Amino acid sequence: MTVTRQTFDQVMIPCYVPQDMVLERGEGCYLYDTEGKRYVDLSAGIAVNCLGHNHPAVVKTISEQAQRLIHVSNIFVNDKTLTFAQELTQLTGFDKVFFNNSGAEANEAALKLARRVACDNYGEDKNEIISFAHSFHGRTLFSVSVGGQPKYSSGFGPAIGGITHLEFNNIKALEETISDKTCAVILEPIQGEGGILPVDPEFLVRVRQLCDQYHALLIFDEVQTGVGRTGTFYAFEQFKDLNGGKGVRPDILSSAKGLAAGIPIGAILTTNEIAQHFKPGTHGSTFGGNPLACAVGSLVLHTVGSPEFLAHVSAMGDLIRSKLSALNDKYHCFQEIRGKGLLIGAQMSPEYQDQAGKLQKLCSKHGLLVLVASANVLRLTPPLIIGETEVNEAMTLLEQAIQELIAQ
Ligand SMILES: Cc1ncc(COP(=O)(O)O)c(C=O)c1O
Repeated sequence: MTVTRQTFDQVMIPCYVPQDMVLERGEGCYLYDTEGKRYVDLSAGIAVNCLGHNHPAVVKTISEQAQRLIHVSNIFVNDKTLTFAQELTQLTGFDKVFFNNSGAEANEAALKLARRVACDNYGEDKNEIISFAHSFHGRTLFSVSVGGQPKYSSGFGPAIGGITHLEFNNIKALEETISDKTCAVILEPIQGEGGILPVDPEFLVRVRQLCDQYHALLIFDEVQTGVGRTGTFYAFEQFKDLNGGKGVRPDILSSAKGLAAGIPIGAILTTNEIAQHFKPGTHGSTFGGNPLACAVGSLVLHTVGSPEFLAHVSAMGDLIRSKLSALNDKYHCFQEIRGKGLLIGAQMSPEYQDQAGKLQKLCSKHGLLVLVASANVLRLTPPLIIGETEVNEAMTLLEQAIQELIAQ
């Protein structure tokens, strides 16, 4: 049976409007469609394929593990899950991990855990969650309700209560809202889907102080910023000098996306004290932490976690940002270029307001795959293995797309 883009409209629930081509193969930073057209991929499956496509070590790990053990459930333990758990806790300095299968599930677990801790320690009334406008935490009913984008959460019946959305980076709003009833504050160190908007360090320090003062847990959603994307394994490592050198650490960190290089996995990391509030039966997952995903997770951790690899991410990020600036000097299509490492946003200039989607389509036409973050920001999340050659090729294609946008 042959399939085309039209097959999507015939048989798939229309949650997406995928682009016109049908992809069938990938290698490194390149993807190929069924017509044989080649694309430079600066999307990496939305910040997932950290080692690119078809990476030999990933393929080898998957095939070897598939021949040994793919899944057993959590009523048994297995060598790969325990190994990965040990490695991840050692790398991050957290005591305990819980595995599931996606970013939304990781946040769901983090939020449930925060409410459970508060309920156990202070009673049912301490259940309020503070989140921020433009944040994105996933699509389960709880995670989408906590996310700060009403367009995703409305129309699904009664919303989950006890959630307040504040302006991001607004200290005064947080001081006025946080109370003894707050059980958690959740934020992304750089808001990804919201437009590559970084947290303000001064705000972050105040968030930590206020969470401590009101016995609320601080949750970092590092689903998009994690796994090397911003130049450290997790973005919070870059906050170690804040707060008079004490640093800012979350109480719970959620991770997913690149953690197993494209095999679905999610995780929360936390302390012993917090972890003990999830007792047998309080939370669970059939697939979570299966040996296949965890075997690849260990490979990712060893590869991405090395100082040389992380330095490469930072260098490539700087290179792309400087090339975007140079393009902008020529075409004035961007108002601001921002981000950290290989999580990059280019906000469209007022003349091209909300035309990020249009530019994205033109990029595809020229053989370059990019993302958007809101209607006004072009988002680049390339594979972390990207090299100078691919960056140069991508920027040439982007220039062609920009020229066509301007000519229209
Ligand atoms: C910051 C953040 N949190 C959560 C999610 C949801 O992850 P998933 O789609 O794996 O459920 C995303 C996905 O884009 C994200 O960027």
